[in-house]
Parts: sequence; structure tokens; C-alpha cells
Amino acid sequence: MDYFLYKENELMAESLKVTDLVAQYGTPLYIYSKATLVRHMQAFETAMQSRRHLICFAVKSCSNIAILHLLAKCGAGFDIVSMGELKRVLAAKADPKKVVYSGVGKTAEEIAFALKTGINCLNVESREELQQVKEIATELKIKAPVAIRVNPGVDAKTHPYISTGLKNNKFGICEEEAYDLYLQMAEEKSLNVCGIDAHIGSQMTSVEPIIEASEKLLILYKKLADKGIKVDHIDIGGGLGVIYDNETPPSPDEYLTPILKRLEGLDVALYMEPGRAMVANAGILAARVLYQKDNGDKHFVITDGGMNDLIRPALYGAKMNIVNATLHGNTKRLCDVVGPVCESDDFLGKERLLDVQNGDILVVRGAGAYGASMSSTYNSRKLPAEVLVDGGTSHLIRKRQDYEDLYKDEIIIE
Ligand code: LLP
Repeated sequence: MDYFLYKENELMAESLKVTDLVAQYGTPLYIYSKATLVRHMQAFETAMQSRRHLICFAVKSCSNIAILHLLAKCGAGFDIVSMGELKRVLAAKADPKKVVYSGVGKTAEEIAFALKTGINCLNVESREELQQVKEIATELKIKAPVAIRVNPGVDAKTHPYISTGLKNNKFGICEEEAYDLYLQMAEEKSLNVCGIDAHIGSQMTSVEPIIEASEKLLILYKKLADKGIKVDHIDIGGGLGVIYDNETPPSPDEYLTPILKRLEGLDVALYMEPGRAMVANAGILAARVLYQKDNGDKHFVITDGGMNDLIRPALYGAKMNIVNATLHGNTKRLCDVVGPVCESDDFLGKERLLDVQNGDILVVRGAGAYGASMSSTYNSRKLPAEVLVDGGTSHLIRKRQDYEDLYKDEIIIE
């Protein structure tokens, strides 16, 4: 449930008209709803309340520091995958003790910075990375908090680009090798073995894959406990899907209940790393219709928002719902909604039934996750502005770039 609803044929962001927001801030514009974000965070908190837990919001899904600050105030921790993301979390005034750090390619600089910052846990993804962590921790005289990201060989049944839990994906360490490494890690003075971690994929719309993965983590947990190695937390990663079109994903409660049931009787905390489920439907992208034209059988609606602002349709063929911010009540026609970028895969949506007039504001729903955070300046287009709506008030949380920003770091050689 989100707070982008129609009132008298005008799409509202909480109590504000989307058309008024774009009049004030311009297009393309990302608009987030605070009430939706808070509601989603509460849904996760409620679902996990029966157990010691940590909700680590996946920063990559929406990395604006205003959003991170809001979620931190609601009690969230963070899942990061780079030093840049850790810097963002710190800039958002969040607690580094609630940060878990995943990723297959952490550099020595990144590991050292994370250890010095005092994060909650490093999710180690290879034997060689573990060696690196040991050496850095010894040098810094810090006991490094570590978990192994296990690759459980479970099919998340999602788009191949966002499936991460199969043996032929680059992520994590298989269970057998992980078990051996845990036995070695437990002997290491420079390490504090604190968890077991997995993240098998994104936009999962059924509970079976995550149950299968959790059961594998639990087996490993018990095998380690039998050897006297007791980890403090099990981290099941992110991956809960959302409704973009006609999907029927489980609610946070439906997703977590079977996992919590399996943990009954065990003194272990449950961590998770939701990104999309927290923020996708808390954000929209608004773009203005510039022109319309017919080429062959196609009717094209050309907007000022393109693949540089929102790459999911071009990159994954993602179908995201597109609506008009003002409903005219005229006959709808089939159209491709495209952007201004010089690529044929620059589209926001194909074959959509819309009633559009030039100057209208089209809105891509579900754009809060992997929208602004994946935007680029391709074709030398400015990064879009971002706005957070709170009831009847709007706050600019990222100003639109200036043209000079596009080349300010470049150097002419005379
Ligand atoms: N934890 C780790 C280690 C991850 O790699 C990810 C996402 C998450 C948590 C959060 O997953 P979520 O709850 O958002 O599904 N750009 C793609 C999604 C890439 C996901 C990458 N990893 C898209 O737009 O669909």
C-alpha cells in the first residue's frame, strides 16, 4: 500500500498534487512518500518483533542520504556494498554498529575503513578476501566482525541478472567450503565470528526460495554449534519482491513467518537486508510529455525522462506501471513511452494504454528502488532532482544538477 492515490482525477503524493510538485521542482523528478516509507519499515519491524533482529536497508536500492536518515530514525540498519555507501550512511548520521557489508570485491582500503568505523559485520565472499580481512585486522589490532556469505545454490526464480544464489553466480561461498572456513575462522584471534549470511536474489515473488535458503543456513548454524561455534545472527539478505504490474508477492509477514518458525528455540538474531520492498512503491518518477508521433504502426509518446533517469526497463525489460498524473477521461490508445536518449532501448514502457496530451505529466510507479540510485548522465543529461513529501509539505532532497556539474571534473589539456 502506498500514498500515491488519485483525488478528483489528479494523482497525489500524500496531500500534494504531483502536477504542483513538478511545477515547483521541474521534470524529470523523483518523488518519495515519507508515510509510505515509514509504513513499510513498520511492517518489517512488526513482522520481526518476536525475535532479536536487525533490518539492514540495502543502500544501493535508494541511496539518497535523506532517505537513509529517515530510515535510520525509524531504527533501520544498513546493508552496504562499498566505501561510498558507508560514507553515505555516516553522512546520514546513522549508527555504523548497525551496518553489514557485502560484496565480492572489497578493496583493502574499504575493509580497513569499515573496520575502523566499527561496523556490525563484514560478509566475506571468498577465501582470499578472508585472508585480506585477517591481515588488515591484525595490522589495525581490531577484532574483525565477520560472517561468510554462503551461496546456497538456490534458484530465486527471478530475472537472471538479479539472481545471486546459484552456484554459477559470482556471489558467496558454497556451504561445504564455508563450513571449513568457519572452523578455521573460529581459531583466529583477529576475527570475531558473528554471523552466517546469504542473499539469493531480488524481486522474489514466492516464499519457497527463501525458505529453502534459510533451511540451508540453519543446517550450517547447527553444524557449527555442534562444534562449539555459536554465531550471534543469521542474515537472510534482501530480495522480497513488489508489485510493479500484476505480481503477487508475499507481505513481509508472510515472507518472514515461516523463517521465524524455523528459528524457534534458538538464541540467534535474525538480520535481513530489504531494499526494493522498503522503497520501490514509496517512490515515483514524473516526466513531462514533450511530443507525440507515429512511426509505422507505433504511436510514440516522447517524455523528458529516459533510460538515464530510470534504466530498469532498458536493462532488465522491467515492466513498470505508467499512469497519467491528470486523468482526462478520453479514449486511451496504445503507445510506447520513450525518452530523449539516442538508443532504441530508451523506453519507460512499451505498448501501454494511455490517454495523453502534450505537456502532461506521466508517472512511472514503483520507481523508488533502483531508480535514482542507478541514474546516470548518459547523453550529458543532468541527474534528476529528488523530493520527499511529508503530508502537505515537500522537501527537496537532491537538487537537479547544473550543466557545469556534468564536466566539472574533466580537464582540458592545452
Ligand atoms: N543484500 C545484498 C547483498 C544485495 O546484493 C541486494 C541487492 C540486497 C540485499 C537488496 O535486495 P532487494 O531487497 O532490493 O531485492 N538493480 C536491480 C536489482 C539489483 C539487486 C542487487 N542486490 C533492479 O533494478 O531490479
